[in-house]
Amino acid sequence: MAISGTGNLHRALSGYRCSRSAMVWSLVGLLLLLQLYSLASRRNVVRGDIQLHVSRHPLVRELEQVEEENIQVPPPKKKKSPHAAKRRRKRSANLIDEFLDENSQIRHVFFPDMKSAVDPVKGVENGSHHYYPGKIWLDTEGNPIQAHGGGMLYDERSNTYYWYGEYKDGPTYRAHKRGAARVDVIGVGCYSSKDLWTWKNQGIVLAAEQTNETHDLHKSNVLERPKVVFNAKTGKYVMWMHIDDANYTKASVGIAISDYPTGPFEYLRSQRPHGFDSRDMTIFKDDDGVVYLIYSSQDNSELHIGPLTDDYLDVQPDMRRILIGQHREAPALFKYQGTYYMVTSGCTGWAPNEALAHAAESIMGPWETMGNPCIGGNKMFRLATFFAQSTFVVPLPGIPGSYIFMADRWNPAELRNSRYVWLPLIVGGPPDRPLEYNFGFPPWPRVSIYWHKKWRLPPSWKVSK
Ligand code: DGJ
Repeated sequence: MAISGTGNLHRALSGYRCSRSAMVWSLVGLLLLLQLYSLASRRNVVRGDIQLHVSRHPLVRELEQVEEENIQVPPPKKKKSPHAAKRRRKRSANLIDEFLDENSQIRHVFFPDMKSAVDPVKGVENGSHHYYPGKIWLDTEGNPIQAHGGGMLYDERSNTYYWYGEYKDGPTYRAHKRGAARVDVIGVGCYSSKDLWTWKNQGIVLAAEQTNETHDLHKSNVLERPKVVFNAKTGKYVMWMHIDDANYTKASVGIAISDYPTGPFEYLRSQRPHGFDSRDMTIFKDDDGVVYLIYSSQDNSELHIGPLTDDYLDVQPDMRRILIGQHREAPALFKYQGTYYMVTSGCTGWAPNEALAHAAESIMGPWETMGNPCIGGNKMFRLATFFAQSTFVVPLPGIPGSYIFMADRWNPAELRNSRYVWLPLIVGGPPDRPLEYNFGFPPWPRVSIYWHKKWRLPPSWKVSK
């Protein structure tokens, strides 16, 4: 009896185990089905989105054309000894090394000279405004634009774009033998435009401090990546920027305020946000008016993100650590159809490196890394973000999913002669590699930055009046 009782129990138990495993497998199946369904519906949204682009803005197709580059690395100049020749061959083995070599024979490819400068006042070709990434870009007075590490504010009160950036028109030097190339702080430059192409110099809207060495803005310090937002509640324009000492140990953010987009801005103070070191940073204004600060922290090993107070003059205590251990900087955020996107660079000083695109359902995270957004050029162009580093992404109102990717092509030999690389950024289409936590099914559409030697905004595109 006992034996047969145990047998019954075994049978009962194995039946139970069987139904439990069936339940688990049904659950897994259900999850997979849900996943496939959500993927399919997202793909439809993506496809619908592309149709929207194509039908409403056929010229977006022009922006999405893949343009290849065939730049050859030049052979070494003279061969002194077989060893030297081998060393030289190794050194100029790829385009990035060539880009970093101030004496490269193809320097003009990366830094075309003043003769080819883009002068929007004189150079309106057939009525269309062309961008030439990497060429010197002149303002309406014929001077090279000085707005590096910049950001854009679209001022709805004046229907005008304001481009703020580091005014670096001073000599480049190293504070110490091993220190990074630097230019003394001059201030934040501001340029205004109605068409995102012709820029009027509005002067230095936040100036360096010349005498007081203890002041954050003393010329011997560092002021980088200024960004400005408008606060509709207080009626103030608020600027956030990276404030540091020459050795990048202060690692703080600075805050300044003005009644006008063209300044003058009054410098309020610096702080270590949430008590953490903060280097490359940006601010992002969400649709509901909440502004977020995003900064590289923990020695650039991760990013931190958190909302500002209602007056935009401080951070709130709420903060999330994101992209932990990924060592990213130069964050540039944007939002499309309720999803948040961000382009970042790696951390290699002034040298270019590979950009990555990230996405999140909620701005506070979790953020997922999607991969390299760069398309066209050649492999080295793509691995070096077209020899530039992200700084800001400007939405093109009226063309859903289309943006201008603003980047800096740094010239550490002469920082004032750094260039702007503006390229079309389009959201849409399936991503090209699976994401981290998603059973291999990518949920986000692809973020693509297209290389062009020369390109223009769709001629029908206009600043709304
Ligand atoms: C990389 C940062 O993105 C730049 O803003 C600047 O801080 C350089 N490093 C300095 O080396």
